[in-house]
Amino acid sequence: MNTPIFDFVRSYAEKNTARFHMPGHKGKGFIGCEQFDITEIKGADELFSANGIIAESEKNAASLFGTAKTLYSTEGSSLCIRAMIYLAATESTEKRRKYILAARNVHKAFIYALALCDVDVVWISGKTDSVCSCDITADDVENALKTKEYPPIAVYVTSPDYLGRRLPINEIADVCHKRGTRLLVDNAHGAYLHFLPERSHPMDLGADMCCDSAHKTLPSLTGGAYLHVSTAAPEYYSENAKNAMAFFGSTSPSYLILSSLDLCNRYLSDDFCGKLKIRAEEVERTKEALKENGWSVLPSEPMKITILAPEGKSGTELADLLRNVGFECEYADEEYLVIMISTETDERELFSLVHAIGTNILPLRREKTLNMSPSPMAMTVRNALFSQSETIPVSFAQGKVCASPTVSCPPAIPIAVSGEIIGKEQVAVFRHYGIEKVSVVKEK
Ligand SMILES: Cc1ncc(COP(=O)(O)O)c(C=O)c1O
Repeated sequence: MNTPIFDFVRSYAEKNTARFHMPGHKGKGFIGCEQFDITEIKGADELFSANGIIAESEKNAASLFGTAKTLYSTEGSSLCIRAMIYLAATESTEKRRKYILAARNVHKAFIYALALCDVDVVWISGKTDSVCSCDITADDVENALKTKEYPPIAVYVTSPDYLGRRLPINEIADVCHKRGTRLLVDNAHGAYLHFLPERSHPMDLGADMCCDSAHKTLPSLTGGAYLHVSTAAPEYYSENAKNAMAFFGSTSPSYLILSSLDLCNRYLSDDFCGKLKIRAEEVERTKEALKENGWSVLPSEPMKITILAPEGKSGTELADLLRNVGFECEYADEEYLVIMISTETDERELFSLVHAIGTNILPLRREKTLNMSPSPMAMTVRNALFSQSETIPVSFAQGKVCASPTVSCPPAIPIAVSGEIIGKEQVAVFRHYGIEKVSVVKEK
């Protein structure tokens, strides 16, 4: 597969042209990659009105993922999430207040997108044992859709989630389409799913749009992401997706990230599927080895290993132990430790991980449910986020209105959502996740 963006950037760097344009490093600098860090000069195309090398590279990506449109983001999935909400909101001709139906474990970018687009949210309740997950079924979505007086702008779910759990996207998509609504998926953690022997990317399973953080699971620089529009989605999405991205994005996209997405296309088209299959099998064997050594390993997507910490030891303590012997994990909290793998992980690293984590001799922890039920809203998400706010200790938060979504980062998933009246249960969850301060709407 050709790599038009990288070819252009490299040949420009090789010409040693005197750079009387941005950026100020002029191709020289401290990191070593500055020569490839250009701006939208002649021939370099423009990300948000692409008709040259970027358009060509995005078409390559669309053909790899089998989509109607795949657009690049150099500002992560966060930008794509804002664009998805904007597209769903502007497609809807509903005159009453627009709302979206969503499973609660959203990334905070979703809350900001609601505020920017002035859309309300109705939560689909689901079981959970962690702020990271919200286990909903197609029936839950159907029941939520049935009970509403008028349709939402879309249904929005996160799958896979931070712990690697996946939702039945195909069933949820069927229900959405049967009831005349769209399905949008936050697939930030699942770009690679299209390349597994059994394709299970949201675009394969019937979602209308989704975002992928290429940088989370593919060999792409941080910030590289895709907004995908399905071939079955309304044309409105494909036709307006670029404008939607431009509406929220920076006018200075990073050509380092664009080059990396461009080169990633070639990587994906050259036997990525074969490499991924082998790595997925190795990860499966690693999970089995950990189980044999007494660890409780959760079922998860193939490129994550999620360990439920035993009684008497937290996920954070396990992460500290591993850090001290040279392993840095993706995420840890009281209950969980999350290890992320990709085709770039070496099989020997997996062996040494099993060795380093050793044998568990502590009793296994039982999974428990967490009360993540939403609190009543005192004002819209937008009004809360556009109000003056103050930061107060959690012990004083009960009864106050949440301003900025209160998250621990990672996973940047709100426990209290902007506009909600913070309840006793939420205060308990803040404490559980070690959150000490919350941002609340300032009372006059
Ligand atoms: C589930 C989920 N969605 C969206 C995002 C935002 O992605 P990005 O960092 O690519 O903007 C994240 C980031 O961690 C995430 O975990």
